[in-house]
Amino acid sequence: MNSNQKIQWFPGHMTKTKRKIQASLKLIDVVVEIIDARIPISSSNPDLAEIIENKPKLVLLNKCDKANKTANKKWIDYYSKKGIKALAVDCKSGKGLNRFVPAVREILSDKFEIQKNKGIKNPILRVMIVGIPNVGKSSFINRVSKQSRAKVEDRPGVTRGNQWYTISNDLEMLDTPGVLWPKFDDETVGLHLAFTGAVKDQIMDIELLAVDFLKAMIIEPTPEFAARFKFDINEIKGYEPYELLKLIGKKRGMLISGGEIDTERAANLVLGEYREGKFGNITLEFPEE
Ligand code: G4P
Repeated sequence: MNSNQKIQWFPGHMTKTKRKIQASLKLIDVVVEIIDARIPISSSNPDLAEIIENKPKLVLLNKCDKANKTANKKWIDYYSKKGIKALAVDCKSGKGLNRFVPAVREILSDKFEIQKNKGIKNPILRVMIVGIPNVGKSSFINRVSKQSRAKVEDRPGVTRGNQWYTISNDLEMLDTPGVLWPKFDDETVGLHLAFTGAVKDQIMDIELLAVDFLKAMIIEPTPEFAARFKFDINEIKGYEPYELLKLIGKKRGMLISGGEIDTERAANLVLGEYREGKFGNITLEFPEE
């Protein structure tokens, strides 16, 4: 990918989504933003703070199984300093999701108290899920929602047409997540989304993408990456990225007629193995110190 390849999003679609989320805000107590723990900056929506105004937010650093554990902690601290609760979760296995309901209750403890003082016996709290494509919204919804949808048609104050999932006896979730857009016009964002597979490879130059990914590997090679291709970890730092790609192709016997190395195949291999987590748990973005 080069800087001319940008992520496309239709302005009309953005306006519609924004309006839909803002209309739903009246019905919910907490916005749950799901991001990818490996790329918390690139996988978050740049306009969310403005869209949700003062609504409390819970951040889920999803796919934490593929991210660096120290980096996960750093991000949780970073959000905490900003007064935002964040949890590292893995919606594929369900790891960390047992902390979701307590975290929402903690965020809403004051509201809970007020409602109880008003004599509301079993106040129900509601959340909505938002996030850019591929961060794990559906995986999250499938994991936490109980089998049946909550029946709310006859409940006062709840707009007809909105469907809710029951999460626990006091927590419900709007059934359709808000699908947001990533930051445009930022080359790093585009690259990081492509590395993790959030942007489809078909629109990318796969070799350029793999070369860009290998740049990061050269700066900070992981033992898993070195072992996978039988490199000496200290040697990796001396390579040029394209040279490294060719070497990987050669080591895997990826040759085309004439004995040339099939760098396109090598590029697909590198990115595929990164996405599968075969190079270890790699976080590509860290909070500012
Ligand atoms: P979305 O609704 O936000 O678009 O995301 P979705 O849940 O469809 O998840 C996108 C991909 O990310 C899926 O993989 C899903 O399995 C994977 N995923 C979601 N959460 C996690 C997680 O915490 N850890 C890991 N490792 N993966 C996660 P897929 O390849 O598209 O589907 P599948 O082959 O897993 O079925």
